[in-house]
Amino acid sequence: MIQVKSESYENTKKIGCIFGRVLEKGDALCLYGEMGSGKTAFTGGVANGLGISDRIASPTFSIINEYDGPVPLYHFDVYRISNEDELFEIGYYDYIFSNGVTVIEWAQNIKEQLPDNRFDIYFNAVDENTRIIKIFGIGNMQNKMSVLKKTFIEKDIEIYAL
Ligand SMILES: Nc1ncnc2c1ncn2[C@@H]1O[C@H](COP(=O)(O)OP(=O)(O)OP(=O)(O)O)[C@@H](O)[C@H]1O
Ligand SMILES: [Mg+2]
Repeated sequence: MIQVKSESYENTKKIGCIFGRVLEKGDALCLYGEMGSGKTAFTGGVANGLGISDRIASPTFSIINEYDGPVPLYHFDVYRISNEDELFEIGYYDYIFSNGVTVIEWAQNIKEQLPDNRFDIYFNAVDENTRIIKIFGIGNMQNKMSVLKKTFIEKDIEIYAL
């Protein structure tokens, strides 16, 4: 597990951007945390790290936003998803097994449908501007977790022990 602290919206974007740079096509990030805890802010940073220049908007109403770039980003917000049929209809299974990085906000709503190998990322708002971000590698992600940890340290992102 890697735990980092963010003191601002910009800081959360920066953490996302550093994360985005170590991601590869096919990687999946599952985001958990209350409304306003920073999931979309983080995703904006991930997009920048992937080399995408577009501004990231919350896909709450569209469920999925797709961004083209050197590594495409499939940004899901499944807050409003109520059953697996809806996931089929929006092409979820095509996206997660295709050639981009997938980010899923409110991933707990589709926990039976998440990929076996993924990052689980928990956002916790401690006060107005402070967020604790906990990153877990699920399945076969230990190598990528090591790379991520090394990269955070290189970029002066402080890693907090439990
Ligand atoms: N350290 C921080 N990191 C991220 N956002 C912060 C931070 N401090 C304050 N904020 C504010 O918190 C809000 C985070 O909004 P964001 O849309 O990223 O949340 P979210 O988790 O995606 O919510 P939702 O579940 O509604 O999609 C923004 O208004 C942002 O300005
Ligand atoms: Mg959001």
